[in-house]
Amino acid sequence: MIEILPNKLFAAITGIGGYIPQNKRSNEDLEKLVDTSNEWIVKRTGIKERRILDQDLATSDMAVRAIQNLIQKYNKNLADVDALIVATSTPDMPMPATANIIAQKLGMTNVWAFDMNAACSGFLYALDMGASLVETGRYKNVLIVGADNISTYVDVYDRSTNILFGDGAGVVWLEPSNEGGIMDAYLRSNGDGREYLHIEGGGTQYPMSDDNNNALEKRYLKQDGKTVFKHAVQSMTDACQTVLKRNNLTINDVNWLVPHQANQRIIDAVGRALDIPEGRALSNIEYLGNTIAATIPLCIWENIKQIKTGDLVMLTAFGAGFSWGASLFKWMI
Ligand code: UT7
Repeated sequence: MIEILPNKLFAAITGIGGYIPQNKRSNEDLEKLVDTSNEWIVKRTGIKERRILDQDLATSDMAVRAIQNLIQKYNKNLADVDALIVATSTPDMPMPATANIIAQKLGMTNVWAFDMNAACSGFLYALDMGASLVETGRYKNVLIVGADNISTYVDVYDRSTNILFGDGAGVVWLEPSNEGGIMDAYLRSNGDGREYLHIEGGGTQYPMSDDNNNALEKRYLKQDGKTVFKHAVQSMTDACQTVLKRNNLTINDVNWLVPHQANQRIIDAVGRALDIPEGRALSNIEYLGNTIAATIPLCIWENIKQIKTGDLVMLTAFGAGFSWGASLFKWMI
């Protein structure tokens, strides 16, 4: 059991929201674009369709809708928010931060707001940063968004990536609690992995300009799927085991595992390696694909009815960087 120190201040999740775009891109749609089949995609990834944001909308628009969904459901007041942290690899623009754009669209004119990019591990990184702010006692209400419009960077004619990725946004509200909340987080990165998963064009290394064909060629997401797969399974398993061990827990103490949704076979392999009981590793990849920083909050949001007050939930993610980690919290809603 986790020992709770007297007077310890926790950051508890007290609200959750999500937004998924209307437009669907099904496996049948992809069959018309590239040499692939519904059967192959389902067998190798577990994905049947993904959602694609309209081209005239941006990452901030999804995040705004996810936050509106949260405040309506949990009766929150945006005027109470002290800080807004947005995990995204697909900002609306280089500057200002997408967090500032979201804040402006929601009329939050006096909030500390910034972006952080840790690719598919972004939500875990941002959650730990937000929890740390709340634990200091100086911040009382912190919004943590995971949002990505990754379809902008996916080459629809590349069958090694177009089958995997979709758009979405999720958000949680953090508040202080003396009874429990975020209990632990173990987060790591290793830049040696950057060659296996990246979008190289459009930054300062390969700036996007009219005559820069080099950048144009590099504007799409590229990955070495097999290498990423192998590292994802190993790193997420190791991170979960580290968190369990240092909290004197076993996997049987964990009610729900919410892994990053990159491939159903990765989710299953991590579940097997951890020996988690059947049905406790949550998944919603079938209809959303990999929404990068949004997968974890969206997976919790869509499974909210199963999670009960006091349940222990373990999150784990892996992505570009490489970046990875695991965190553990008590569900306080
Ligand atoms: O958030 C982190 C981000 N990314 C990930 O976690 C992705 C991790 N990787 C993966 O999910 C998988 O590696 C993929 C789904 C990308 C690929 O699955 P795989 O089982 O590793 O397939 P593969 O690349 O080894 O390809 C196996 C075969 C090959 O044919 P041959 O050489 O055996 O004849 C490929 O050419 O399947 C072929 N193939 C396809 N066939 C139909 C590859 N992609 C496709 C496709 N449709 N889309």
